[in-house]
Amino acid sequence: MLKPKEVRQIYASYADMYDRVFARFFESRVREAVSNLKLSPGSKVLEVGVGTGLSFAHYPRDCEVLAIDICPEMLRHARRKKEVLGLDHIQIEEMDASNVQAHSGQFDAVLAGFMLTVVENPDHVLSELARVCRIGGQIVSVNHFRSENRFIGWMEHSLDPICKRFGWRMDLRVSDLSIPPTLELRDTYKMSFYDLFRILCFERIPAFPSLNHTPTPSPATPSSV
Ligand SMILES: C[S@@+](CC[C@H](N)C(=O)[O-])C[C@H]1O[C@@H](n2cnc3c(N)ncnc32)[C@H](O)[C@@H]1O
Repeated sequence: MLKPKEVRQIYASYADMYDRVFARFFESRVREAVSNLKLSPGSKVLEVGVGTGLSFAHYPRDCEVLAIDICPEMLRHARRKKEVLGLDHIQIEEMDASNVQAHSGQFDAVLAGFMLTVVENPDHVLSELARVCRIGGQIVSVNHFRSENRFIGWMEHSLDPICKRFGWRMDLRVSDLSIPPTLELRDTYKMSFYDLFRILCFERIPAFPSLNHTPTPSPATPSSV
């Protein structure tokens, strides 16, 4: 597991070259992930681990986006992008995704792009994202996950110590995630058969679905009991 301090240091060292190196791998997938957020005019969106803002061009201007990251150097590039492109609908804050400064249910949609394998505790982050998303809202993650194929999975596991030095894990499987009871995994797919990256689409559901319905009183129940 990478500690937040290490994450900050590693991504600070990438910040100036991040778009040149990673945009070709990430941007089309981020665009696809944004299209799964089911945004409509006025939607409130949270993006966690926004990095340099590869997603920014893909948000409709009639949404309100809060984009957060723990690495100030990455955010410096995101802020510059926002300014150059005149993206007044995007607000940028330095903030930890495992402790989002927002009310429960504040957002209609949440995006986590290439960050669940970077954070120290992906389960905790996932439950924090579920907390701040309203019931019926969408949470989308795009990430590399360890393959369930034994040979490929073994190779990825072997590469894990090296990749951690570069700032991400290779050994996290989708099945390792403890999906909170308030999230339903609605869809999971890759953009092509050989794609290394997988998109996970969750919907925020009520913790106790039955409590959302007014129970129909049973005529057989005596009112005095
Ligand atoms: C691989 S980059 C992905 C950046 C961006 N989402 C993209 O698609 O290009 C991972 C980002 O997650 C950020 N990050 C890691 N841990 C975080 C945390 N606990 N809270 C917020 N951001 C975090 C890193 O600083 C880095 O910018």
